[in-house]
Amino acid sequence: MDGNIQVTEKKQVVLSLVQPTGTPTLGNYLGAFKNWAKMAEDYDCLFGAADLHSITVRTEPKVLKSRIIEIYAILLSLGLNPEKNIIFVQSQVPQHSQLGWILNCYTQFGEAARMTQFKDKSKKYAENVNVGLFSYPTLMAADILLYQADFVPVGEDQKQHLELARDIATRMNNLYGNLFTVPAPFIGKAGAKVMSLQEPTKKMSKTDPNTKSFISMLDTPDVILKKIKSAVTDSEGKVYYSEEKPGISNLMSIYSACTGLSYEEIEKEFDGKGYGDFKAAVAEAVIEELRPFRAEFDRIINDKAYILSSMEKGAERAEKRARRTLDKVMKKIGFVSYR
Ligand code: TRP
Repeated sequence: MDGNIQVTEKKQVVLSLVQPTGTPTLGNYLGAFKNWAKMAEDYDCLFGAADLHSITVRTEPKVLKSRIIEIYAILLSLGLNPEKNIIFVQSQVPQHSQLGWILNCYTQFGEAARMTQFKDKSKKYAENVNVGLFSYPTLMAADILLYQADFVPVGEDQKQHLELARDIATRMNNLYGNLFTVPAPFIGKAGAKVMSLQEPTKKMSKTDPNTKSFISMLDTPDVILKKIKSAVTDSEGKVYYSEEKPGISNLMSIYSACTGLSYEEIEKEFDGKGYGDFKAAVAEAVIEELRPFRAEFDRIINDKAYILSSMEKGAERAEKRARRTLDKVMKKIGFVSYR
């Protein structure tokens, strides 16, 4: 064989989109974002703002706009290399809507109606159960399949949607030959699962009406300290990990994720000390953990020109890949191209 031929191994594709529905929390950071820069070293990664998904809930136009810019700036501030990874806004790549429609026609009403998130959301937003809410998972499937993603890092609440994307991909592959990579959930190092500071048996959520229950990624050090100091604990006064102590255990898991210390080491460190000392240390660790991200974000959010030019680059690169898949799908289905 010709020794000059270079075989470059193709990296596997990982894709994840985040909805611009409010500032992400410390839970989103420790559970996902913190690992993305590391993940991006080993995979061909695409990250995006799922702004089309977020209009299933009515939002003031000004608010939507500032949230899209904020989430995009957050993605740019995670230490990812925007030259190597594609960081894009979903609505700026028209193929998402186009493939989304096509996938609607290959998804049964009953399949979409079974989605537990649709059932939950139609109860929660009973005054606006729109068709977009119903077809949300087919748009998500389009997001994934357009880029031939091998892996999608998903939380528990998105597993069923990924399962549907797999079913649709398999179904269309059987009908038309190999159109799509069938995506699998990304099994990486499990990120920390962060619970509410006020009800530590519930997941920390950015939409919790009690703002003391979550730490936003953009909270100032003062606010972080205040929120951790008022976190719900118990009356025992001893720092150790136990299911019976969800408040303290949650703070321990946060502290461990930020410092790399094991639970044993943490128990040792706070042996004989009270919750006051422990909470101060947790707050300090969280503030330090978010500091580099925060510095980068503050710089980027004030540089609108950089944000817009990054969006343009991201959209162009994403579209180039998305178009390849969409063209193939349309051709196989029987649409006519004049090219
Ligand atoms: N539905 C996801 C969520 O709410 C966001 C999302 C949209 C997504 N498209 C995606 C996640 C594609 C992974 C892949 O969290």
